[in-house]
Amino acid sequence: MDAFLFYVFIFLLTLLFFHFVIKITYKDGSQKRAKLPPGSMGWPYIGETLQLYSQDPNTFFASKQKRYGEIFKTHILGCPSVMLASPEAAKFVLVTEAHLFKPSYPKSKERLIGPSALFFHQGDYHGRLRKLVQGSLSLDAIRNLVPDIEAAAISASSSWANGQVINTFHEMKKLSFEVGILSIFGHLESNVTEELKKNYSIVDKGYNSFPTNIPGTLYKKALLAREKLSKILSDIIWERKEKKLVEKDDLLGCFLNSKDEKGEVLSDDQIADNIIGVLFAAQDTTASVMTWVVKFLHDEPKLLEAVKSEQKEIRRLNEENKQPLTWRQTRNMPISYKVVLESLRVASIISFTFREAVADVEYKGYLIPKGWKVMPLFRNIHHNPEFFSQPQKFDPSRFEVSPKPNTFMPFGSGTHACPGNELAKLEILIMLHHLVTNFRWEIVGPESGVQYSPFPVPHNGLPVRFWRESITTT
Ligand code: HEM
Repeated sequence: MDAFLFYVFIFLLTLLFFHFVIKITYKDGSQKRAKLPPGSMGWPYIGETLQLYSQDPNTFFASKQKRYGEIFKTHILGCPSVMLASPEAAKFVLVTEAHLFKPSYPKSKERLIGPSALFFHQGDYHGRLRKLVQGSLSLDAIRNLVPDIEAAAISASSSWANGQVINTFHEMKKLSFEVGILSIFGHLESNVTEELKKNYSIVDKGYNSFPTNIPGTLYKKALLAREKLSKILSDIIWERKEKKLVEKDDLLGCFLNSKDEKGEVLSDDQIADNIIGVLFAAQDTTASVMTWVVKFLHDEPKLLEAVKSEQKEIRRLNEENKQPLTWRQTRNMPISYKVVLESLRVASIISFTFREAVADVEYKGYLIPKGWKVMPLFRNIHHNPEFFSQPQKFDPSRFEVSPKPNTFMPFGSGTHACPGNELAKLEILIMLHHLVTNFRWEIVGPESGVQYSPFPVPHNGLPVRFWRESITTT
């Protein structure tokens, strides 16, 4: 009996010991473990998706930021997410700790673009592809594109006259597609460009539709068009190799010449996915910004006059010297350049981006759990009065002083920052040159309102009536 009591006593002592060990460990753990950011996770499963999509998403973000501050949690599209609205937080995710946050896109979108497109990846493969894309879109490379972009802008605007109503966004999409094609392939035969355009536009239409394999749906049509694009691209690649044209220094040439450290070349599928990826990254983005430029200039007559006189002076010189627009001139358009920057800020067409935490990450005492989505909110930063006074006002002169670090990120930041940013600005400036020296315009229908397609563009793509101005320069 004594022995029994002794064992019971030892057993209880052991239980007590483990109880304390567990308690201490748990206490230490909970003290060390950072807490989740403030915010609401909404309803089970749907979270706050309805709140986000039933209004302007920026109103949703802004009201959350007002309530919870620069970092808050939510649950959208089936994913627990952390949203970050400060320059420091954006830098943390995109630059300094970028290795802890991988790009995150739905599988249905990856299927349409192609899984090897660089922006779905990080690490060595991403680095290799990024270098190639950056090289072919560098200042040295794009300076040679000025005459071709100018020709594309003239051709795109050839039908804007006689007071006919045009959909500005659609017209700008035509231009940005042509410029995308130029940067990827240099010159392509027009029938090949047409085939690419036809199938790409079907992919584009299906990109934001419900993903299903049911025949006849936008998504299924997009998948079929994507297969056709692969075939067209593999024919172009075959022809380049056959005619020994791989030395060309456009993006396709860079892809074809690339070998990794083991001497491996890129497969045709990898090349095709990256070509579609670059076209996708280049087209709607640049077209939306160009559409906003047309709208903002229309709304600010004094500013329009200033831009006109800057551009007409360039045109006068070129007519005098019988020369086309030069690279040097595109680098010296101070008023127009500030209009482009301010349009990028006010429109903030990439309102935010998505990443996914690859491990539990702590930021300013808050836990971002592994697997959660992380969204730096560019637009909130661009519209924060602390960084841009009277943020709703379209005022290009604010760019006479450089914005504070990490407060102006229309092209993102860090390892995935936009490699096409200089090409985009060049294209917008060339379009602007032709727009203001050749045309006057008025907006048809409501002058306010934004639609998401998925980037914000003025209501209905901005229907506009253009008139050709007399050639005389002032
Ligand atoms: C005004 C027009 C444009 C805007 C506002 C824009 C904006 C952006 C932003 C914000 C990112 C980073 C996304 C992220 O971090 O998740 C990005 C990435 C990218 N952009 Fe652009 N972009 C524009 C035009 C272009 C053009 C013209 C090209 C190519 C010809 C291009 C090619 C790319 C590529 C390939 C990436 C992915 C880079 C990577 O993952 O390393 N973009 N863009």
